[in-house]
Amino acid sequence: MIKELPRLDEMPPDRPEMAGPDHPIRKMTQQIAFDPAAWTPERKTKVAELFDAMAPEWSKRATIERREPLRDALARGGPLPRGLCVEIGSGTGASTPDLADHFETVMALDLSREMLRHAPAQPGHRVQGDASTLPLADGSAASIVLVNALLFPIEMDRVLAEQGTLIWVSSLGEFTPIYLAAADVDKAMPGEWSGVAGRAGWGTWAALRRS
Ligand SMILES: C[S@@+](CC[C@H](N)C(=O)[O-])C[C@H]1O[C@@H](n2cnc3c(N)ncnc32)[C@H](O)[C@@H]1O
Repeated sequence: MIKELPRLDEMPPDRPEMAGPDHPIRKMTQQIAFDPAAWTPERKTKVAELFDAMAPEWSKRATIERREPLRDALARGGPLPRGLCVEIGSGTGASTPDLADHFETVMALDLSREMLRHAPAQPGHRVQGDASTLPLADGSAASIVLVNALLFPIEMDRVLAEQGTLIWVSSLGEFTPIYLAAADVDKAMPGEWSGVAGRAGWGTWAALRRS
């Protein structure tokens, strides 16, 4: 059960309408969230190539409007447990400083080597990896944060500590290519979860914990 919090800011103008419900990445995001078999080796190769190619220009997308939903999630989505924060699909690191302000240690993990190469060395420990098979022990992450990143529910559930928090952010809300509604994140995760959701800047967010 996810409770929607009231919006605190005004929606900024000119939200880029990057993707509607029929966008191929939007469909892939849904498939992967609800069917582990949808993440095939061929798809993994294609996704890595796609983001490797976009990496040199990616940091131009990091506007303040895009950062607002994560900041709101960190401010109102708590409690945020102490310990390791795993940032999935960290890209060129636009969100990592905000996470480093809240968590002791941030692992900034991405499939794309080029994205990581264009990210600053600090803050956050950059790790190349696939979020469907994380190089982490069961229950070792106090928080897992996904900003415009693919949700692999079984692996997120395995790695997140019992009292851990899962934060999902879509920087452009319903117009984000990698988008899931808060209710879909809740439905896709194994077991019973509860939490809060909100809107800020151009985006949407959800923070979930096991019920
Ligand atoms: C839309 S970008 C978002 C990047 C960053 N979070 C941002 O908002 O600017 C998605 C990122 O997820 C990464 N990614 C895609 N599939 C992944 C996987 N299976 N494991 C880890 N990262 C993945 C891509 O390489 C890309 O950097």
